[in-house]
Amino acid sequence: MRIVETISEMQSLADVARSRGHRVGLVPTMGFLHEGHLSLVRLAKQKAGFIVVSIFVNPTQFGPGEDYQEYPRDFNRDCQLLEGLGIDVVFAPSASEMYPPGYLTYVEVEEITRKLCGISRPTHFRGVTTVVTKLFCAVKPHLAVFGQKDAQQVIVIKRMVRDLNFDIDIVVAPTVREPDGLAMSSRNLYLSEQERKDATVLYESLQRAKALIETGERDARRIIDLVEQMISHKKTARIDYVAVVDTERLEPMDRLSGEVLIALAVRFGRARLIDNVVVEV
Ligand code: PAJ
Repeated sequence: MRIVETISEMQSLADVARSRGHRVGLVPTMGFLHEGHLSLVRLAKQKAGFIVVSIFVNPTQFGPGEDYQEYPRDFNRDCQLLEGLGIDVVFAPSASEMYPPGYLTYVEVEEITRKLCGISRPTHFRGVTTVVTKLFCAVKPHLAVFGQKDAQQVIVIKRMVRDLNFDIDIVVAPTVREPDGLAMSSRNLYLSEQERKDATVLYESLQRAKALIETGERDARRIIDLVEQMISHKKTARIDYVAVVDTERLEPMDRLSGEVLIALAVRFGRARLIDNVVVEV
């Protein structure tokens, strides 16, 4: 397993892998890896012969006052975990390698980045689409794997790939959860004991919403009310949003039909957690 810190070396390795006929698979991460990330790597390994995992805590996707400085990092442990999975390259550029002095260029997907998480994090997705574009240019992958846990991120990246004609398959992996249903996240580390207990309400409420739809409920307001009520019973929870939207434009629905995304973001102390389910109506 090679650890690569420069874009030029990464590009050369990608060219060699491609010239040898390998399919190149990329798994972008911000490190502090957990079982959710590792499941993406395993999926990538099933689909490609040369696997690159990027570890880069991307400053441009954090807003002012967000947790860029405190974001958990443990590069040595990450490398040990990845070594065990048999990947080819860890691409871990520095912030100045990715954004050297004088950097001016950003990639922006409109409209759908201003909804859901984009309301409280207005510059977040611009940072994500910019860094993912730069990772694509460095790694030259045939495919890249993303987690359904970040549902809006997946929708935004798929939109960008279509709109900019990137010749890259976007593969989506299911959300990996703790035994009690809480979606795994590097930010779960921020939770106190009480907040951790309360946070199980996120998945519970989404499951109840899904069950309600399966028994015939089609009124989006009732779904949102149910989820909001369950969450607001927890003292440590502060709802950012609960939304019922379509999976293409992220437009709110009144009557449910087609593929429905129920997505939420909730603060517990200093952790802002997201989760979602998709229901086919
Ligand atoms: P990060 O939060 O490190 O997540 C890296 C990838 O792992 C994302 O595709 C995310 O959806 C996926 N992931 C995280 N938790 C998961 C879980 N419990 N189950 C399944 N997949 C999970 O998302 C980012 O980093 C960044 O925005 C990035 C795309 C790397 C750009 O900087």
